[in-house]
Amino acid sequence: MLVVGLSVGTFHDPSACAIVDGELVFATEEERYTRYKHALGQPPFNSLVGTFRFLKGKGLHPRDVDTFATNVNLRLFLGWLGERRKYVLDFGKLYDLYYKHGLRSSNLEFGTGLLRGYQFLIRRLIRAAARTVGDDLDDRDIKLVTIRHHLAHAASAYYFSGFSSSSVLVLDGQGEREGTTLWRVRNGEFEEVSRIGIEEGSMGYLWDHISERLGYEVTEGPGKLMGLAPYGGDYVGFLEKLKNMIRFSSGGKPYTFVASPAMIAERVVGGAVKWDPRKEVHPVAASVARALQEFTNELFVHLGDWIKDATNEDRVALAGGVALNARANMELHYSKIFNDMFIFPAANDAGTSIGAAAYVYEHVLGGKIKSRRLRSVYLGPEYSDEEVRRAVEASKFRARYVGDDVNEVADLIAKGNVLTWYQGRSELGPRALGNRSILADPRDKEMWKRLNAIKGREFWRPLAPSLLEEYKGEYFVDPVTHEFMILMFRFRDGMAGRVPAVYHVDGTARPQTVTRDMNPTYYDVIKAFKDMTGEGIVVNTSFNLAGEPLVETPRDAIRSFAEGGFDAMYMQGYLLYKR
Ligand SMILES: [Fe+2]
Repeated sequence: MLVVGLSVGTFHDPSACAIVDGELVFATEEERYTRYKHALGQPPFNSLVGTFRFLKGKGLHPRDVDTFATNVNLRLFLGWLGERRKYVLDFGKLYDLYYKHGLRSSNLEFGTGLLRGYQFLIRRLIRAAARTVGDDLDDRDIKLVTIRHHLAHAASAYYFSGFSSSSVLVLDGQGEREGTTLWRVRNGEFEEVSRIGIEEGSMGYLWDHISERLGYEVTEGPGKLMGLAPYGGDYVGFLEKLKNMIRFSSGGKPYTFVASPAMIAERVVGGAVKWDPRKEVHPVAASVARALQEFTNELFVHLGDWIKDATNEDRVALAGGVALNARANMELHYSKIFNDMFIFPAANDAGTSIGAAAYVYEHVLGGKIKSRRLRSVYLGPEYSDEEVRRAVEASKFRARYVGDDVNEVADLIAKGNVLTWYQGRSELGPRALGNRSILADPRDKEMWKRLNAIKGREFWRPLAPSLLEEYKGEYFVDPVTHEFMILMFRFRDGMAGRVPAVYHVDGTARPQTVTRDMNPTYYDVIKAFKDMTGEGIVVNTSFNLAGEPLVETPRDAIRSFAEGGFDAMYMQGYLLYKR
């Protein structure tokens, strides 16, 4: 059986995926093709073409797709919109974003037509993508099932956790009508135990509104605020204000806002804070970020306690954009409320294509998803060695074929070079995890500023590490295996001196643990670095230039390598040098 999932219609992070015989075999995000971060307002056309191409390589054609699954039920959404006209404003903000970025007219048509004929347009999208790979589909061939947005998030968290039963927390900006939902899932049966409406509790929108007041756009702001928070000193007054407007409860709704997210942001921050994030850490901006982070930490623990009481399940799975908050996830981890915790790596809307497809696979088609924990996200397209060789030769960079022998690569890193690392299938989700990465020496504090400058990031933003799984306890307090960089841990004492480039000011990091099973070449390069330096840990930041999504194709990689201030590149067996 074959289900293709689409994240379409939430205006950001469109994606496509395929589930074949109970297994997630492919997933990719639109931004990687259009080179426009979060692909705001764009339909997942290229990602669907990529999915069809991948399937063709396995002898499967668009007409073989049993069902297409989508991630937002516009009918529910329009009903809600009719009831709550004042919240049209929040939605209007998304539209603003979408127009501001001057998207191509075909995309514009897609967006404005969305509310008129969601299903009609999705069928058109599927037919156009099928034609691109040489197949004609008739509307009758296309079976389309739409899954409620938060159910799609919940399904992504549950089906790939490897848990048979679990509590599930979903927190984002909004689904059709809700900002937070809490679930109990037993053997694939989903029971919604609490639903908090958008106006009653949307942590996603609260982060968005506060980000805007601190001068950031909503798509990038929350992640930056998380990095800024540890610099905040005088935050208690802001935290008190938040607590006055958001009430915790042990009743049917674990928390509720007493005002809209926009109003809360207004009351907490007041007018917009004017500062230049590239030049300074503004004390008020940092303190507001700290208060919001501290509040979110407390909320996560409260939600954990609440759901544990309600479900008696001692495992938890999380999804929704707010679950990308690695610091709040750390609070839940160290609280020990649960024995085990899984955060879906593409917790943002890119992951909802996968949740929708998995749910449809079991609940509509009667199949069974192979239940095991997702350990890696190398789910994107493959680029052949031949394609890579041609890209390398066309580049004119001095290059040498080293194959899997990455000792020289590790040596370059240990000698202070900034190295781009490209191999295999691209990662799903917002983090580079060893196939589209920039690697550097974590022992050099200056490396932190140098990398942020190369990537056009604010100088104060932290860098994350990848480390050999078996050494996690040497670096971190009470860590668990975590492959996706969305769970922070506290460093052990003494690490500020040993690995300063990945040591954030509050003594935390959000690492990726690496096993040889998961990614042999990547494991080998970190292992070689350990043999040379004694540290089984490297800086790993995403391979992209300022303002761009992760590189996708070999050509993207060569172009970014050429334009950025990098020293060398490992590219699927080739070692390229700038000098
Ligand atoms: Fe969402």
